Amino acid sequence: MKQFILFSITLLLVLGLSCGNKEGNVIRIGLIIPITGDVKTFGESVRNSVILAVSEANAKGGVNGKLIKIISADDKNDPTEAANAGSKLINQDKVKFVIGSVASKSSIPLSEICQESKVVMITPTSTNPKVTVRDDGTRKDYVFRACFIDPFQGTVAAKFAVEYLKAKRAAVLYDKSNDYSTGLADFFKDNFTKNGGVISIFESYGKDDVDFSALLTKVRADKPDILFLPDYYTKVGLITKQARALGITAKFLGGDGWDSPEMTKIAGDAINGGYFTNHYSPQDPRPEVQEWVSKYQAKYGQKPDALGTLGYDATNLLIEAMRAAGTEKPEAVRDALVKMSNFPTVSGNITFDAFGNPVKSAVILEYQNGEQRYVTQVQP
Ligand code: PHE
Repeated sequence: MKQFILFSITLLLVLGLSCGNKEGNVIRIGLIIPITGDVKTFGESVRNSVILAVSEANAKGGVNGKLIKIISADDKNDPTEAANAGSKLINQDKVKFVIGSVASKSSIPLSEICQESKVVMITPTSTNPKVTVRDDGTRKDYVFRACFIDPFQGTVAAKFAVEYLKAKRAAVLYDKSNDYSTGLADFFKDNFTKNGGVISIFESYGKDDVDFSALLTKVRADKPDILFLPDYYTKVGLITKQARALGITAKFLGGDGWDSPEMTKIAGDAINGGYFTNHYSPQDPRPEVQEWVSKYQAKYGQKPDALGTLGYDATNLLIEAMRAAGTEKPEAVRDALVKMSNFPTVSGNITFDAFGNPVKSAVILEYQNGEQRYVTQVQP
């Protein structure tokens, strides 16, 4: 029996591989993520989970009788690199589907290229509205995402600051070169003000800045209740550390960009007591979440962060749309995505709004003793 099983597995592998080598029997999906550069844990998490989703699908025979092959490219968290990677995958490797990128500033130029080439793109994690919508308000109809958007994230953070933290005065520091950071800063500001709060400082820094003492000295003199930091973990780690060293006592608050196992290594104790909005918590007791967490942990030796979870969800969305369409014609897969209704993913059930954005809940997490602790969930 054992031998038979072994033989069958070998046969399946051989068949799978030989089918896989024939052009017509493989569906190529481009994966564009930051695997080097300043936010590489983001890319690593997404890559891990995309590989997991694809190997699960391939183990069940693939989709529409074809195996899926991932062709990945590193965008180094750089918009130009992301655009170049998109052009290469589309023109040379002839991919018709792209998963990526992670950062909104990379996904925005990438979305232009995918839209132009009628290639279906799903970003797992990019939350800026401009990824799926042009400046004139029209929809890029080949572009979707698996996450909520920043107007919602900014609303959740502002309400939490006012209602839960009882904040009246907030300072905001953001990276002016980063669409995610500028967008979330604005959405927080609007909503905090709407909820009766005062934004006392609203200032920016540059992409390569590492010394924030000039800005932080202003913040210290202003004595805000909250310091809102809508940026990624590398910058937030430095800023929070320098802020505490200067004696700033404001509570720190931020967004999904805080989610990284590297955060506490960079910030040290300074990040403890800081709150941030996110897409999911591994402490969510729902069975589908717990099953996913143990599956990921068994394979990669750590719990999936939100990026890992959204990468898995985005891949399954795309696979399901191909299955529902019964073909890999990008136009048909796009239409199947539009029609998707309450498709169950780990981070929540997905139905797209008119702009390719899922309407989903957010969670608020707190860093405590270097770990993330679940605080609450907020419905849209
Ligand atoms: N939302 C971020 C962006 O749009 C990316 C991100 C998502 C980072 C989730 C961390 C966790 O740029």
